[in-house]
Amino acid sequence: PDDFGVSGVSCYFPASFVRQEALEKAHGHKEPGKYTIGLGQTEMAFCSDKEDSVSLALTVTQMLLDEYEIDPSSVGFLGVASETLVDKSKSIKSALMPLFGDNTDISGVDVKHACYGGTQALFDGLGWLHRTYPIQHRLAIVVCTDIAVYADGPARCTGGAGAVALLLSPGAPLVFDNGLESTHGHHGYDFFKPVGAHNCEYPIVAGKESISAYLSALSTCYKLYKRKSKAYAGRDKLSLVDFDAACFHSPFTKLVRKAVAVMVAEDAREGGRVRGEEKMEGIVAGLRAQEEPSDLSVISPESLKASEQTWQEITSPNLEMNRRLGNMYTPSLYVQLVGYLSRLEEEKREEGRERRILMYSYGSGSMASVYSFTLNEGMTERLRRMIDVSRSIVGRLDEREERTPEEYGETMAQREKFYTQRVPSTPSSLSSSSLYPLFPGTFHLSSIDDQYRRQYARV
Ligand code: ACO
Repeated sequence: PDDFGVSGVSCYFPASFVRQEALEKAHGHKEPGKYTIGLGQTEMAFCSDKEDSVSLALTVTQMLLDEYEIDPSSVGFLGVASETLVDKSKSIKSALMPLFGDNTDISGVDVKHACYGGTQALFDGLGWLHRTYPIQHRLAIVVCTDIAVYADGPARCTGGAGAVALLLSPGAPLVFDNGLESTHGHHGYDFFKPVGAHNCEYPIVAGKESISAYLSALSTCYKLYKRKSKAYAGRDKLSLVDFDAACFHSPFTKLVRKAVAVMVAEDAREGGRVRGEEKMEGIVAGLRAQEEPSDLSVISPESLKASEQTWQEITSPNLEMNRRLGNMYTPSLYVQLVGYLSRLEEEKREEGRERRILMYSYGSGSMASVYSFTLNEGMTERLRRMIDVSRSIVGRLDEREERTPEEYGETMAQREKFYTQRVPSTPSSLSSSSLYPLFPGTFHLSSIDDQYRRQYARV
């Protein structure tokens, strides 16, 4: 088979959130709008000390197995991506093995590179399928799990938490476009978590530098993706017009808005088409004549205008989960597949036109890739299941409980304390389930024993 790709997606997020509008006030911003308009975020998910990257991964993997009725013995690869490490040696993947019963013949371990790891795990899972599927006929699963927390200061509002699990197989509704992935690897220190730097989970972050690095890696990868599309797929003058959706790593959605502006300006400079250009000819023609700016994070009013329709049609609607959960690190890109699928039927299918989804993955430090999927409309039953699951995931956003900025701050202090607590220890939030709710079926940390071994339970 040559139609390997994503044939199932699930997402878990914590049951508590804080509103960004309330955070703006609590953080002393006299004028409203810095987090909601300036960064484009409405809510932020967070979890207490009884959840960690392992419990999130356990929950989302079990959800995927249940929602898609996957026989655990049919799985032959399980790759996990996270930058929220609870162990420098033992993998999160190993902690998921009990979910697969007697099936111990499962390849794959953890991948770590900031927010990029999920993409590497996906590439690895697809490579494994290509190598083994024709002989073994078994499936692959990729899990992204992270808790994004920052020290008090300007980055705190860009936290979040969640996990995404992807089922990979042949006959997939989202077929991976082989041979076009385009990558930019670079050595930098825009965001990192050095051993010994902090006695807590918080990163060292150079905010502005990370934004420039994100946008310049995007530009490099997108140019390369276009060159490869022309050379290997015969697609000349490819532009965002050729895509039904463009999904991005989303630390906050305003950065994604800027990313779309950078790409549309790039399309215009290279003579490609721009959505809605007939209504704004002067602007696109002006962009065509402009040189590439040396600092891509300075977005010109012309490129913002020229990219508005593109943003509204193929990116912004898929970002609802990102606006309401915050940066989830590794799952942050993949959660947009849930957003896209949940709206799929509302959009009109054009006869004879393939629907493509562009993906941009970025992880500080840095690694970045642009690649794409093609929607396989023929996979009706599987696609329907993916759409139904995605809709129910989006619906669950409204079942969460709102907490005040003060309660959020107390929870961050509780996580900090738990990080350095002497063992054996028990998460303090276990004793107040009304303040720290969990959805039914959620796995949580129940204790850490005197050898630092973690035990989990399920509600
Ligand atoms: N109303 C509307 N907009 C406002 C208001 C207001 N009252 N106040 C400020 N803004 C706007 C600003 O103009 C700015 O928008 P612009 O960049 O389009 O001009 C935006 O809000 C943010 O304001 P800044 O002053 O730039 O914010 P600050 O420097 O305090 O922090 C930052 C922002 C750097 C993103 C910080 O939150 C951070 O470090 N976050 C973590 C790093 C990060 O996520 N990097 C992204 C890639 S790496 C990764 O994924 C981890």
